[in-house]
Amino acid sequence: MTKILIIGACGQLGIELTHNLKARYGDDAVIPSDIADKRNVYVDSVFEILDVLDNSNLKRILNYHQISQIYHLAAVLSARGENDPLFAWKLNMDGLLNVLEEARAEKIKRVYWPSSIAVFGPSTPKKMTPQETIANPNTVYGISKLAGERWCQYYHDKYDVDIRSLRYPGLIGWRSKPGGGTTDYAVDIYHKAIGEETFECFLKKDTILPMMYMDDAIRATVELMETDDKNIQVRSSYNISGMSFSPEQIYHSIKGFYPHFEMLYKPDYRQIIAKSWPESIDDTEAREQWGWAPKYDLPMMTEEMLKNLSRPVTAN
Ligand code: SER
Repeated sequence: MTKILIIGACGQLGIELTHNLKARYGDDAVIPSDIADKRNVYVDSVFEILDVLDNSNLKRILNYHQISQIYHLAAVLSARGENDPLFAWKLNMDGLLNVLEEARAEKIKRVYWPSSIAVFGPSTPKKMTPQETIANPNTVYGISKLAGERWCQYYHDKYDVDIRSLRYPGLIGWRSKPGGGTTDYAVDIYHKAIGEETFECFLKKDTILPMMYMDDAIRATVELMETDDKNIQVRSSYNISGMSFSPEQIYHSIKGFYPHFEMLYKPDYRQIIAKSWPESIDDTEAREQWGWAPKYDLPMMTEEMLKNLSRPVTAN
């Protein structure tokens, strides 16, 4: 029987994946865990408090619940990572190594770990960035994701751990608020529009970044995790692409619904991070090897975000 542990279940991605996987495999098949006691997010569910740096607790949870799959989502994101680089490195790197080691030792059947467009850097080709190219990240987050990709490949090749990974672009969803990312302006902007507040953007208006609507990201993750082993030829992490836009373009897509919505530009250190990342991603390998295809473009996403955020009660 499939029994899934979600590490970082109260984060932006964790909330969405837990919700989706419980609906898919059944409530009892998915055990959410997080560093903080946020069991109020999962009132009717078993919940474990887990600091992924604590490997004895990780081992206990894996054994106690007879876990067969792990989704390891706990990480410090790009912008926040720059405020405490050594902690970001420790959490992102040691956390992954603990999970990989336990997966090897406890013979966990399958592991998911997210990588990011942050593995790329200033001298990476910016448009339609290929799967294999120059990757010279200049954020601690990007460095940790790139090193993490190599460890994933290593554990797969050397110990046969079935690890699967996607290089997410900026993720945009309504169920949860993100924390500490450079692409997160594209989530906050919808909340400000709904609240009829002026939005202060920390990027310049023409800064184009690869982005993806959360429903596409969750579907990509589940499709990758459910595809047959033989389809997976990339064991570091797959490029995946959804859409690309600038702050000015998302602003105009929202203004179609909220004509009085105002936005100011106050670029800060996050502009430098954004400028070092690609504008668009070539995801040929994901499309050819396991059939990936995105559904949402910017107008569809804006409509969904505004519709869901303006409901009186949200899902969590
Ligand atoms: N969304 C992430 C960030 O901005 C990139 O993976 O940090």
